[in-house]
Amino acid sequence: MKKKIVVLTGAGISAESGISTFRDSNGLWENHDIMEVASIEGYHRNPSLVQDFYNKRRRQLLEVEPNLAHHFLKDLENYFDVTIITQNVDDLHERANSSKIIHLHGELRKARSEYNETVVVDWSNDINIGDFAEDGYQLRPHIVWFGEMVPMMETAIDEVLQADILIVIGTSLQVYPAASLVDYTKNNAPVIYVDPTELNNNPSIIQIQKKATEAINDLKNILSDYSVE
Ligand code: APR
Repeated sequence: MKKKIVVLTGAGISAESGISTFRDSNGLWENHDIMEVASIEGYHRNPSLVQDFYNKRRRQLLEVEPNLAHHFLKDLENYFDVTIITQNVDDLHERANSSKIIHLHGELRKARSEYNETVVVDWSNDINIGDFAEDGYQLRPHIVWFGEMVPMMETAIDEVLQADILIVIGTSLQVYPAASLVDYTKNNAPVIYVDPTELNNNPSIIQIQKKATEAINDLKNILSDYSVE
């Protein structure tokens, strides 16, 4: 039977595709304060600014491609049972054809009713003020903002609990509850952290201090020790 690998990804895996991370620029995301454009309070204060911000992010998806790290995670499926839990709202894991993807913080290519978070539609274009969901309420990005619940968290925890190996790629692990997922691994399940920035005070974690695409060979070497049984 294939061993189960769960991969937790963050903004860093898409950095080499040309999408900015959040915290590498001192808390500014594409020149905005994160709380201005990624919190429910920010949206209530200025819905047009926030809609416009995500419209730009959605348009940017047309200009970027999955990189070698996204493709590597798809290829891992030849050897392991792979589930990706991503904090990213881009669609680069989908476009690399990964089979099992859980989006913890929502998806840019979906829109939802302002009123009911379960009224969700596929959405590729801009969302304009005056675009309504089928329940008659304004559409907003299908994004989990600061100040909102993370509905996929339980599903994600269940996956990590069953993982034989957890790989974490390109996340600062500063945002909860997502960051707490690393605490749910089984005893003895190795945790591998890929990030150019060192994670402090974690002797039990195997660290590959490199960019995602540059860590692929190291990952292959480590994973070859955990082959099929
Ligand atoms: N390869 C791998 N990691 C990289 C690369 C790269 N090429 N470039 C940067 N990184 C790392 C940074 O060192 C950092 O640790 O990616 C991480 C990005 O961290 P953040 O910007 O904090 O992004 P993330 O952890 O995904 O943020 C979590 O915060 O604002 C919210 O909802 C948003 O999902 C997001 C959440």
